[in-house]
Amino acid sequence: VEADAAWADEVRRLARERDAVILAHNYQVPEIQDIADHTGDSLALSRIAAASEASTIVFCGVHFMAETAKILAPEKTVLIPDARAGCSLADSITGAQLREWKAEHPGAVVVSYVNTTAEVKAETDICCTSSNAVDVVASIPADQDVLFLPDQFLGAHVKRETGRDNLYIWAGECHVHAGINGPELAERAAENPDADLFIHPECGCATSALYLAGEGTVPADKVRILSTGDMVHAARSTKATSVLVATEVGMLHQLRKAAPEIDFRAVNDRASCRYMKMITPAALLRSLREGADEVHVDAETARRASASVRRMIEIGQ
Ligand code: 13P
Ligand code: SF4
Repeated sequence: VEADAAWADEVRRLARERDAVILAHNYQVPEIQDIADHTGDSLALSRIAAASEASTIVFCGVHFMAETAKILAPEKTVLIPDARAGCSLADSITGAQLREWKAEHPGAVVVSYVNTTAEVKAETDICCTSSNAVDVVASIPADQDVLFLPDQFLGAHVKRETGRDNLYIWAGECHVHAGINGPELAERAAENPDADLFIHPECGCATSALYLAGEGTVPADKVRILSTGDMVHAARSTKATSVLVATEVGMLHQLRKAAPEIDFRAVNDRASCRYMKMITPAALLRSLREGADEVHVDAETARRASASVRRMIEIGQ
């Protein structure tokens, strides 16, 4: 299937026929980002899913994102063009593992990154995304222990920003972001001394970036730790003429659209999420034609998960 004008017309026609809104994450392939009604980060897309009036949501992203939309809008039909689009980070903790961890820390508040299964969300007090993780943890009274999961690099970022020593961090990681490492970042920054550094907090290099700033290798005001949505906002306001981007490479498309005059370069151009890329133009077309793959979350899990997900979309508005 070619993502040409005939494809785009057919996608639009089928979406109208199904009363469907098409949402796309910032890591999707450019053709999918461009046909979507809304493109954004996890938090923005969750808020849109919760507020949408369409009866069907077609979620072009990975499975936990579509599941989150279903938890927020149980009366809607939620489709994902390929249900095999998982997430290595979400796979790094199970509901049973979380129950065991909670038993070791009675009374602790559980904060889960949205990159988790519905079963883990059902065991969670507050969910967060990369754009509001610091606000969510800051909203918890200082004397309460916090269990933060599953991403260790985002956890380290939150711990640094909030200065809490009663924050316990699960040792999970995203294989794509963990692979964007400190030495690579240092090398790119040395080659591009005037560039801003936009770094996703899931990256293995997030700590190194602050270390480079601390030792004066790069000026501290050039280092920005940002969610994918906040990268787009930062692209619109920066004075820099070049930006090094440490995250999944799909991000470059929205950044170049937001600020065509800026030279955006990936810190690691092999950082591609194979799950995000399963949502092809052909898969989207099939999804709209067949009403597949439909996302289901069992009613009891959804009920228990919805409180933590609702808190997430309320904090950091
Ligand atoms: P954002 O919420 O920043 O878009 O991140 C989602 C994600 O999966 C990062 O790998
Ligand atoms: Fe999951 Fe990593 Fe892919 Fe994001 S980039 S969806 S965290 S595997």
